[in-house]
Amino acid sequence: MTEELHRRYIPDGQDNLYDTHKCRVLRVYKQTEMDKVFLFRFIDQEVGKNWKFKPGQFVEVSLPGIGEVPISICSSAMRIGFFQLCIRKAGRVTTKIHELKPGDIVGIRGPYGNGFPMEKFFGRNLLLVAAGLGMAPLRSVFLYAIDNRWRFGDITIINSAKYENELLFARELEAMRDIAEAENIQIIQTVTREDSPNRLKGRASEHLDKVMIDPKNSTVALCGPPRMYKSMFEKLVEMNYDPRRIFVTLERRMKCGIGKCGHCNLGNSTSWKYACIDGPVFDYYDIISTPGMLE
Ligand SMILES: Cc1cc2nc3c(=O)[nH]c(=O)nc-3n(C[C@H](O)[C@H](O)[C@H](O)COP(=O)(O)OP(=O)(O)OC[C@H]3O[C@@H](n4cnc5c(N)ncnc54)[C@H](O)[C@@H]3O)c2cc1C
Ligand code: FES
Repeated sequence: MTEELHRRYIPDGQDNLYDTHKCRVLRVYKQTEMDKVFLFRFIDQEVGKNWKFKPGQFVEVSLPGIGEVPISICSSAMRIGFFQLCIRKAGRVTTKIHELKPGDIVGIRGPYGNGFPMEKFFGRNLLLVAAGLGMAPLRSVFLYAIDNRWRFGDITIINSAKYENELLFARELEAMRDIAEAENIQIIQTVTREDSPNRLKGRASEHLDKVMIDPKNSTVALCGPPRMYKSMFEKLVEMNYDPRRIFVTLERRMKCGIGKCGHCNLGNSTSWKYACIDGPVFDYYDIISTPGMLE
């Protein structure tokens, strides 16, 4: 790996690319039948004190002898020494992670990836659109915006899932509704596959007309399955959202997380990206200029 890559992607002061910190599980709580939220604390408190991340970054979580998986950080970046991960039981490693109890220890590498360029969002309205597990990284952006409320204009979050019992952080968002409204924060929760007395029905893109913020001065962050992005882009551009200010996360299959293994390569010779180090956050122009990004 070149010096330049080292400088860009490996956190300062970290010589070993695979440097792993031990973290203790403090709390586990069930979000849905498939998803659990884990609260972690660094065992070495010096490390914890200096460990910082940006919303949209991810960590590699390892269980010795089992494996390692990339997971987005879903908590507020303003918290020191603690962080949360919302983990869906998908296969071998995540099933073992779901068996963890408070007191157990995991290995954590990172944070990795570029994260959302939050400074570019300052002074503007913010529209966040999450589908399914996409709510995990966007929760971190949302909590950051709430913690730094004075830096943003009006804020709208759309949280969507197939079924009501799959909506991530739905109760938390509901509990915030009164405070949110008093601070010009709009919360929309929608489900696509069932009628629910508590939720709107339909895809997030079908509720964009309910968003109260002015598109002209807004930044948009989308996180969900790539197939949702194409129709969202078309609709947002049609509604006068500035394409330069539309950001998405792409959670391509990753292994190393640091630009070494090549598992997450995207594009061709004109535009070649590593989802782990050039992303996982990309802007609209990266997406349309890099072949295969939305496949
Ligand atoms: C940047 C990034 C952030 C992520 N953030 C989260 C998160 O916040 N919460 C969460 O629950 N999951 C997240 N994932 C997905 C998570 O990494 C995978 O679910 C996990 O690697 C599956 O490992 P496993 O051993 O449990 O499953 P496996 O036994 O390896 O596979 C089981 C199933 O999961 C799918 N899968 C495997 N690896 C990935 C992958 N990297 N991305 C998507 N699907 C995969 C396989 O196609 C298969 O269907 C993220 C992935 C990336 C790349
Ligand atoms: S995950 Fe290894 S190069 Fe991106």
